[in-house]
Amino acid sequence: MRDSWHRDAQLIRQAIPDFTGLLDRNGILGLACDPDVESRLVVREGRRWHLEHGPFSMKDFARLPAGNWTVLVQGVNLHLDAADRLLHRFDFVPAARLDDLMVSYAVPGGGVGAHFDSYDVFLLQGPGRRRWRVGRQPSHELRPGVPLKILQRFVHEHEWVLEPGDMLYLPPDYAHDGVALDECFTYSIGFRAPSRTELAGEFFSDLATRIDLPGRYADPGQPATRAAGRLPAPMIDATADAISAVRWNRSDIADFLGVYLSEPKAHVFFDPPEKVPSPATFARLLARRGVALDRRSILLYGPKAVYLNGECIRFPRGVPKALMELADRRALTTSDVPGAVVRLLRAWFADGFLTARSTAEEDDDA
Ligand code: SIN
Ligand code: CO
Repeated sequence: MRDSWHRDAQLIRQAIPDFTGLLDRNGILGLACDPDVESRLVVREGRRWHLEHGPFSMKDFARLPAGNWTVLVQGVNLHLDAADRLLHRFDFVPAARLDDLMVSYAVPGGGVGAHFDSYDVFLLQGPGRRRWRVGRQPSHELRPGVPLKILQRFVHEHEWVLEPGDMLYLPPDYAHDGVALDECFTYSIGFRAPSRTELAGEFFSDLATRIDLPGRYADPGQPATRAAGRLPAPMIDATADAISAVRWNRSDIADFLGVYLSEPKAHVFFDPPEKVPSPATFARLLARRGVALDRRSILLYGPKAVYLNGECIRFPRGVPKALMELADRRALTTSDVPGAVVRLLRAWFADGFLTARSTAEEDDDA
């Protein structure tokens, strides 16, 4: 973070030694056939590029040539606990910045062409090898008439062949072109970097639903007019007054941000447990096994509130330590939790936002 974040590309050989990936060919192609999963197929024929969006059927893949195509599956962390654990190995970056884990599968020659993304990315090599060419560009001009963002002229500064477990960090707007040398899997840990327009626009559209100002426009001094079409100047002034009476503060901004960033993506559904434990059983479960956030849950906190999956829960006297720990580590094992927090955790458990800690998580801790 100190040396490279937002500054320079960095190649980390054996970032995750012996990384063998989390999915095989059928696993990833199967996900690309699921209507609740966002997926793309990119096929290159010489200088021509074809792009199709999923869901696909296995027959679509059987028809493809032996080389020069790739399938990319977004949000794999939402579907696979191991993928969620991999994504959260990157928790040295604030969770508010984390987007998703994308996995690509490519046959030899497959790739998405030379392009740049507007956010940081870690590209972790799974099975197979990929040749990456990367570099800053004098021009970000894109090739016209292509269904993908492909740079018109791409000049690379570095060329590296990544082997399983190697990882490449790229800052925003840093151009890259990855071509599969073998059948290859790439795991992209992506971050979200909302534009200023998006942040301000979303804040005001949220604020608009909560505006509640007393009074109504009145014009007791209005004389008879010969210019019925003209907007009355006092009406413009009164509107300006109403607008300037809308107030917000930093805590409203934190609440907006927490709710906005923790909102589940489209197609995310939680699985509530069949049976909700009694308060006493739940307290025992918390003390003995502990609880963990479901892989689909996003939990963030600010000075006076926590935000879980698009909901804001306020704590005027400060956020309880146990909830900060749950948000930071995505798991909590302790019996030292105030009763009100245990009740809240049990309600989250009932919604499927939380689960009992699994053996895999206990192994991770070890
Ligand atoms: C890929 O996995 O082929 C593309 C990843 C990226 O360029 O961001
Ligand atoms: Co990219």
